Amino acid sequence: MIGIYLSGTGNSEHCIKKLLFYLDKTAQAVPMEQKDAGHLLLHHDFIIFAYPVHFSNIPVMVRDFIKSRQNLWKNKKVLCVATMGLFSGDGAGCAARLLKKYGAKIVGGLHIHMPDSVCDVKLLKGSPEQNLKIIQAADRKIEKCAEGIRNGIYPRDGLFFYDRIAGLLGQRLWYYRKTKNYSDKLKISNACTGCGLCTRVCPMENLTLENGKAAAGKHCTMCYRCISLCPAKAITLLGRTVIEQYRYGRYVKKKDDKNLCLSGDISKSNLQKESFTVIGKEGVATDGSDFIQKLWEDANSHFGEVAHLAKKDENGNILGIWGAMSDFSRSFQPWEGFNQGLYLAGVECEDDSEAPDGWTKWVIPGYEYIYVERKNEDTFSEVIKYLEDHDISLAGAVHDFTCPQTGKGYMFFPIRKL
Ligand SMILES: Cc1cc2nc3c(=O)[nH]c(=O)nc-3n(C[C@H](O)[C@H](O)[C@H](O)COP(=O)(O)O)c2cc1C
Ligand code: SF4
Ligand code: SF4
Repeated sequence: MIGIYLSGTGNSEHCIKKLLFYLDKTAQAVPMEQKDAGHLLLHHDFIIFAYPVHFSNIPVMVRDFIKSRQNLWKNKKVLCVATMGLFSGDGAGCAARLLKKYGAKIVGGLHIHMPDSVCDVKLLKGSPEQNLKIIQAADRKIEKCAEGIRNGIYPRDGLFFYDRIAGLLGQRLWYYRKTKNYSDKLKISNACTGCGLCTRVCPMENLTLENGKAAAGKHCTMCYRCISLCPAKAITLLGRTVIEQYRYGRYVKKKDDKNLCLSGDISKSNLQKESFTVIGKEGVATDGSDFIQKLWEDANSHFGEVAHLAKKDENGNILGIWGAMSDFSRSFQPWEGFNQGLYLAGVECEDDSEAPDGWTKWVIPGYEYIYVERKNEDTFSEVIKYLEDHDISLAGAVHDFTCPQTGKGYMFFPIRKL
């Protein structure tokens, strides 16, 4: 099994990863823009195919991805997953019909309601609380659907004829031209500072830097990734001003990060934390018994070099100081024998930050953790024993965390990859 997806603002990425987690923990989720995505699909018979609905239709890039790999789909079993802000009629059916034309066997269709990603139009904007409720309901739907699939019952969202009529009359008929071709309507205002972030994240490579400012080409698939990420809010597409930037990961992380620092006396707790970035000073356990202390001394004395990259909460407080760990292969597996591996003494940073000279950037995958306040030298071995006694396996390397507000230290034990 393999997952392939397009996701502008993280909704479809979250949904496909969650579904794969319940169906096959070894299955990869591959973004459509990854150069070898088509090649990877060749080796799998069962494909989960996820994307956002655009104007009750599939995004142009998704249509092109299917069409340009016509020979790949024959006899593949495909489950189409469409995420949407409100309504699509036959969002899953649109891709299903095209895939079927090229020989795929459509095993099901799944529609998932997620927060709206169009951040420059007021229409469907929900409050953070409303968005969280939508995400929680989506998670429940995915869980239920996975349970059905494990029992051989596949969802049929968007695959019936009346869904097609609903999709057509609902929007597609009126907005068909919007998804007929790539868009050349992206607007970049003078607020652009030329940071280059948008040029790095666009799945269509539609943005370039020209004379220190971003410039848009004519191949925008309207995913809203650059618009939702631009630090200067300089990019718009359907509307004229950015109202509130939306990113699934950023939104959910913010909630988790808050819990973390407000945790006070919590001694043992579970927490889901999406993938995050740490920039710090890296060392190896073979550097001597005091290598971790030396890394912290180095990091603390040069902290000014990375302070501006650190992630902050709404009050301007730094979110987290991490002693992150990984095995030597950098797969974030536990240290060999719990005493040999890599250590990164650093600060949690914005995901798009680059490490300055002399610093190293790690992107730590998303996990569910048990986190425990570090009371003494025995905390680590006590928790390992607790995990063993409760038949819980460690899913990755343990990390140290220090809450900058309270100064309290915690250990994070990953127990499940997200
Ligand atoms: C250009 C555009 C058009 C959209 N049209 C629809 C639509 O017709 N119906 C709907 O329910 N949601 C629509 N949405 C909302 C997205 O489908 C929804 O927020 C989706 O979950 C975003 O997924 P992503 O974060 O993976 O890109 C649209 C979003 C964009 C950017
Ligand atoms: S992300 Fe925004 S500020 Fe940075 S180059 Fe792009 S448009 Fe300009
Ligand atoms: S230009 Fe922006 S909205 Fe258009 S495809 Fe690229 S990242 Fe998405």
